[in-house]
Amino acid sequence: MRTILVTGGAGFIGSNFVSRVFRDRPDWKILVLDALTYAGNLSNFAPAMRDHPRFEFWYGDVNNLTLVDSLVARSDLVVHFAAESHVARSIADDRIFFQTDVMGTQSVANAVVNHQKKVERFVHISTSEVYGSAVREPMDEDHPLLPSSPYAAAKAGADRLVDSYVRTYDLPAVIVRPFNNYGPNQHLEKCVPRFVTSALLGEPLELHGGGGAARDWLYVEDCVDGVLACLEAPLDRVRGQVINLATGTATSVKDIADEILRIAQRPATPKVSVGERPGQVLLHIGDPARAASLLGWRAKTSLRDGLAKTYRWYETHPEWWEPLRWMRQVRIHLPDGREELH
Ligand SMILES: NC(=O)c1ccc[n+]([C@@H]2O[C@H](COP(=O)([O-])OP(=O)(O)OC[C@H]3O[C@@H](n4cnc5c(N)ncnc54)[C@H](O)[C@@H]3O)[C@@H](O)[C@H]2O)c1
Repeated sequence: MRTILVTGGAGFIGSNFVSRVFRDRPDWKILVLDALTYAGNLSNFAPAMRDHPRFEFWYGDVNNLTLVDSLVARSDLVVHFAAESHVARSIADDRIFFQTDVMGTQSVANAVVNHQKKVERFVHISTSEVYGSAVREPMDEDHPLLPSSPYAAAKAGADRLVDSYVRTYDLPAVIVRPFNNYGPNQHLEKCVPRFVTSALLGEPLELHGGGGAARDWLYVEDCVDGVLACLEAPLDRVRGQVINLATGTATSVKDIADEILRIAQRPATPKVSVGERPGQVLLHIGDPARAASLLGWRAKTSLRDGLAKTYRWYETHPEWWEPLRWMRQVRIHLPDGREELH
């Protein structure tokens, strides 16, 4: 039996990852550490998993050094998802982003240093947001880091911190930069679930700045495949590597809205343009070549299929998202002093 510690396992990507590990890696014991912030949700764990001896849930903060150290000490594998993850919230109030995303990563990475004899692999979940808007396309791992929001800056700090630990302590770490994930269990503050629930409710879809910003959209199960591949690839091939998880195609937010309305069979639902988000990333398109050559990974789910599956999941799980309806928007102060909902 191997033991894997998953921080942030009650959140969107973390919970999809944990469910997959529980299903497909029957000889792995799973320890989840999660502070259950507004983004964490215990109902993301199926009861059969929650009650199983292979699963342990630890309610706690990644900044609790004693707790993190005791969990890392028991783990062969560590995957660090825990973070504050919403760009608009980081514009509203950024301090917690540096506490959780930077200091929390220091806490987890430092515990891995302390238990290097035990820990075989540490996968740090960074983000494509560290690149900012594309200065060249597609964005490979050597694209400059030009974070354009406090969230992205905090994640860039964490990303470089882990890289420095590889150089200093020869940590068996891999840094993963997933592009925009979507799928089941994603909080309604994020674009795809917001559009999906607006379509289900028959409300207009709100597009920031007209929806021209384009992203590389990755279905969450493909992201989970990529993280597993980082854990299971030969160490000498991936130690210290930074790896994009991307599809290599970009689609505008407006086109995502249109596709969701097509799936919902509500083509006449209006789309309204609202103010652009400050620091908006205009174009994100990832180069997946390194993931293909090092991991043999590529995204398998087409955007059409992924959005259709996502739509069906929200359609059939209103009990999951109804309580979050009031959190779909974040109130932020704009540089000119006005307040706006984003
Ligand atoms: N969602 C995306 O599109 C995307 C893309 C690229 C990278 N990422 C990264 O992937 C990771 C997971 O993202 P997500 O979308 O699942 O985020 P999420 O916000 O849905 O989940 C974050 C989880 O971390 C937990 N958490 C927050 N602060 C914590 C703390 N101090 N201690 C312990 N747990 C804490 C929350 O309770 C929650 O369960 C993050 O590191 C994020 O930066 C996300």
